[in-house]
Amino acid sequence: MAGASFQKIKLLKKNNVGIVAITAYDASFAKYFDNLGFDIILIGDSLGEVIKGQKNTHNVSLENMIYHSQAVRRAVKKAYLISDLPRESSLNKLIAYKHSKKIIRECKINMIKVECNKNNIDVVEYLVRNKIPICCHLGLTPQLISRQRSFRKYGKSPKEFSSIIKIAQRIQKIGAKMILIEYVTESLAKELREVINIPIIGIGSGKSCDGQILVSYDILGISYNSISKSVEKKYFKIKDFESRIKKYIYNTKNFL
Ligand code: KIV
Repeated sequence: MAGASFQKIKLLKKNNVGIVAITAYDASFAKYFDNLGFDIILIGDSLGEVIKGQKNTHNVSLENMIYHSQAVRRAVKKAYLISDLPRESSLNKLIAYKHSKKIIRECKINMIKVECNKNNIDVVEYLVRNKIPICCHLGLTPQLISRQRSFRKYGKSPKEFSSIIKIAQRIQKIGAKMILIEYVTESLAKELREVINIPIIGIGSGKSCDGQILVSYDILGISYNSISKSVEKKYFKIKDFESRIKKYIYNTKNFL
């Protein structure tokens, strides 16, 4: 795990330098992204869609996560590595703990990401109490929804806005180390950054987060399903892949 420390991520936030993250699922891409200077590489359960060609992330297994996390781990020397806890592992706190331990032990990754809403805060609490470093994924949580119309911006209504703030405050108090917000409104992202001290990484949530993450296949413009709207259209004007990725890194570091 040479080079990767959460201290560095916290320092970037403290120094007001954007934290730049991307997903990877295999050794070759992971090595390439690591060499380009990404701070965080996520082995996301988006692999269900982009690697396995499934409609959503619901059938990603623990074995899938371990296989891909090990491949990425072999290749990465500098970036901080986070693996998703798959849906099958997240519904019960004892299973969540057992599976998180297994991923950390067998893949030597740094942190586990858990999709979170008001119904599974006890899972996060149990994991943190048992010393698992946790990133909580809030807002649009693909594992926890099944209807197409749930793929929308979160935090538009005052009730949902304050509910997400309350969950974020709660999980910060419990001891989660980081938050990922997916598809929340710009104003909710701003408010979260005001009231939360731990790093907040955003996707499709505006520029005011401490950092940004993208699904690698989306910014490459290659996808089995449709390309997510989380990638700003301006990037696709840059035809050369490496220049496009470097621009994403530069823009994120500078909050552009
Ligand atoms: O699984 C994934 O790729 C994610 C994205 C939101 C980055 O969680």
